[in-house]
Amino acid sequence: MNAHSTSVPATARKSNGLSGQVRVPGDKSISHRAVMFGGLASGETRITGLLEGEDVMRTGQAMKAMGARIDKRGDEWVIQGTGNGCLLEPEAPLDFGNAGTGSRLTMGLVGTYDMETTFIGDASLSRRPMGRVLDPLRRMGVQVLKAADGDRMPLTLHGPKHAAPIAYRVPMASAQVKSAVLLAGLNTAGITTVIEPVATRDHTERMLASFGAALEVESDRDGARHIRIEGQGRLTGQTIAVPGDPSSAAFPLVAALIVPGSDIVIENVLMNPTRTGLITTLLDMGANIELIDERRAGGEDVADLRVRASDLKGVTVPADRAPSMIDEYPVLAVAASFAEGETLMQGLDELRVKESDRLSAVANGLKANHVDCEEGAASLLVRGRPGGKGLGGGTVETHLDHRIAMSFLVMGLATQDPVTIDDRSMIATSFPAFVELMRGLGAELE
Ligand code: S3P
Repeated sequence: MNAHSTSVPATARKSNGLSGQVRVPGDKSISHRAVMFGGLASGETRITGLLEGEDVMRTGQAMKAMGARIDKRGDEWVIQGTGNGCLLEPEAPLDFGNAGTGSRLTMGLVGTYDMETTFIGDASLSRRPMGRVLDPLRRMGVQVLKAADGDRMPLTLHGPKHAAPIAYRVPMASAQVKSAVLLAGLNTAGITTVIEPVATRDHTERMLASFGAALEVESDRDGARHIRIEGQGRLTGQTIAVPGDPSSAAFPLVAALIVPGSDIVIENVLMNPTRTGLITTLLDMGANIELIDERRAGGEDVADLRVRASDLKGVTVPADRAPSMIDEYPVLAVAASFAEGETLMQGLDELRVKESDRLSAVANGLKANHVDCEEGAASLLVRGRPGGKGLGGGTVETHLDHRIAMSFLVMGLATQDPVTIDDRSMIATSFPAFVELMRGLGAELE
């Protein structure tokens, strides 16, 4: 099923300086987990600031289908969970739409249950590799009853009577794989260990601990993190305030940097260090980004960001920064298109398996708009043109990828000629009010 069968094109034009104060929607990673853990825990979970994008709503529907009660009261989402180990067999396939995080984490969450669960999604999700989650689950005793070629969705899982705890070294830098194994460990007697050689976003660890899971994290001599979770414990409902999503903030942020005369404030942005690689990189490039009122909120670091138009210069982005900015490369490539000199991004293998093959989608979008760039197997080189002279005028294929769509709409605000994208409908998966928010800052989008 493809929720976006009707494409809605959009065009961005050279705009005057952006100004204003905005809040971006709640963090997508934290929102998925808040709904999932709230649906699993005993008692009540109350969530404010939840991202009400399609992806998170799909996770909510899946948790409902397995016994959680989820209601919205005013600005607050109220969830009555089933209790750990007490999810029910869903009567119909769980449809995750476009959502990799929702589907992969839920495979971990329910894979070890002695029941049958079927996972389906849209054309983009059905192309994405699920073997990375199914392999460790198989080792825990989970049967993959059906799957499309290459361990893809639609797929059906059946858990064993008693799952076996494992120690699993995650072979790629993936918070989704790490999280899926930890969640499978929640319903498994004994200690499940995940070894993470390269640190990725740590929301699962932080949030499970706050729900009361017995979870320990230790780093070894080589810097690998060993995360141990003891299964079958009690989780208790929590009150959660979801901070603004840095991956969504990235779009108005880069727009303000590249549109001359801009001066904006983005409030309440999550500053968890596993998520701030883009800001580090942009500061290296000479961006004028000021962190105002850095504070703690709901166990996370947050800040307001004041962003002013800046003369950017090209940099080399080290491969080991990739996990902390993995979703931000498309919009960084846009910033690089306006920078003086070359920007080299390395260590981008994982970009090939996102909502689209993001590396080629970005390179093709840049080329369609006359940006000089080179796509490598796992790298991207962009030669910028300050002022955007001669850039734009092309149509970008988005391949059902929200971050490709938003990145190129940002680009068109500063290129000489307009930039068109073939479809904007999937932006609703992560940032439903994107167009309105950008227009409110003065962006010319239609
Ligand atoms: C996410 C992990 C990342 C990221 C995705 C959200 C998460 O995916 O790209 O948008 O919430 O765990 P990978 O685990 O595939 O790197």
